Amino acid sequence: MAGLRRRAVLGIGGAALLGGSGWGANWLVAYTGHQRGNVGSLEFRNRLRIPELLAPKARSDGTKRFHLELAPGESEFLPGRKTGTWGANGPYLAPTLRARDGDEVAVTVRNKLPEATTLHWHGMHLPARADGGPHQMIAAGATWRPRWTVHQPASTLWYHPHPHGSTGPHVYRGLAGMIILDDAHSDAAGLPGEYGVDDLPLVLQDKNFHDDGSLDFTESTFSDDVAAVDDRRGVLGDTILVNGTYDPYHEVTTERVRLRLLNGSNARVYSVGFPDDRSFHLVAVDNGLLARPQELPRLRLAPGERAEVVVAFTAGEEVVLRSFAPELGVGFPASRFMGGDDTFDLVQFRAAGKLKSSPGLPARIAGAPRAVDVPEGARRRRFELVADQINGRPADMRRVDEVVPAGATEIWEIERGDGRVHAFHLHGATFHVLDVLGEKPPPEMRGPKDTVYLPGTGLVRLAVTFDTLTDPEHPYMYHCHVLRHEDNGMMGQFLVVEPGTEKQVSRTLKSAHAGH
Ligand code: C2O
Ligand code: CU
Ligand code: CU
Repeated sequence: MAGLRRRAVLGIGGAALLGGSGWGANWLVAYTGHQRGNVGSLEFRNRLRIPELLAPKARSDGTKRFHLELAPGESEFLPGRKTGTWGANGPYLAPTLRARDGDEVAVTVRNKLPEATTLHWHGMHLPARADGGPHQMIAAGATWRPRWTVHQPASTLWYHPHPHGSTGPHVYRGLAGMIILDDAHSDAAGLPGEYGVDDLPLVLQDKNFHDDGSLDFTESTFSDDVAAVDDRRGVLGDTILVNGTYDPYHEVTTERVRLRLLNGSNARVYSVGFPDDRSFHLVAVDNGLLARPQELPRLRLAPGERAEVVVAFTAGEEVVLRSFAPELGVGFPASRFMGGDDTFDLVQFRAAGKLKSSPGLPARIAGAPRAVDVPEGARRRRFELVADQINGRPADMRRVDEVVPAGATEIWEIERGDGRVHAFHLHGATFHVLDVLGEKPPPEMRGPKDTVYLPGTGLVRLAVTFDTLTDPEHPYMYHCHVLRHEDNGMMGQFLVVEPGTEKQVSRTLKSAHAGH
């Protein structure tokens, strides 16, 4: 726990002591103390946990029914230390749900937590009242029963709480799970697909722990001392958990492995790769497969983003999946305070002496979702993200910010208006990145997405295609997926309505459903 020790020495008190009266010395101590990492300090002692694949109960009507029970529990991440956590059907994280395009899905969510929460299906196209955003609160002790029809391409989605103002702490305590959607194209793609064997979920999270093992919710306050840096972004941890496993390894038994990466962290941006700089193939992003897999040595993953990559291994080797210092585009010195200089080993892969052969990597994936043509005269909307607000307004659960005609493709211009880390996400829709600060998007930002890192000050333009499901009363959300920013109000809401009725719907919601 080198990280824990370093934080103890360079905590706030330490900074004040060492800095004496000089602001400059304080600043230097703060700056130095904000580089985090674990490289060289792990031993890869724990077998990587694989979240249970929850088998749905098929009902006579063909519905796939999933049961989730949210409850507090106790986990042992660090050797000999107990950590109070939250989980679904277990003490930490949540099972992986699997469904197919066309499935009727019904979920029973029982909330046995001490407080109200929600469960949001991030990346799912579904009726707004089933979305699990801040309007679908589940009181402590209550049960929520959303149902919907899966009608979207194969992809890796996820689910997590979304109560207004408390999403960050609810996710940090452990509530998050993966969703795998399959379709005929993913079946035929020839990608590794045996769950937990050569098709691995990897939920990446960073935590801080108190010495007694409990989760540390302390957020950075150095920004108050360091005038130049405004870094309100919640907890940035010094300890990595992968699928809730500290210090993990995984035994590889096949020549190729598909990693389903999910950045389930509150604020940290990762840049995933290998110390030997081997490249791997990106085969899918948030909302679906790529028509052409992209070969990359590094992959940036912002909070909320997912990526599927295929990695080739050599028999007998041991190699670590690492997160390298991510290019945040926020400049000096802010980058240091937002994790831009941090390097973490994530999980060690140990390849068996003899590996089973894997399917060859396809050059093209037939049926992968295509970028839509933006129609002439497409509606443009502009969103400026600055100071925990969007377009100068904090989130308001009663206010409808945008009304969108069902099935439309629009251009959403997202502007990062300050020098902080932001990732833009919208519910119930898929977008393709048109351009980033005026340039063609890099490979990792292409393909069907629902969450995107804003890599610089300026515009990221998205071609957003909205679903055809309509509801004039229940909104979807768009927000920054840095959860402290979302909780502070960097969020807005939109309705999807029958085309032609945009002007008729009320911009004020009758009841604010959500507490807070
Ligand atoms: Cu991952 Cu609005 O959420
Ligand atoms: Cu979402
Ligand atoms: Cu943000």
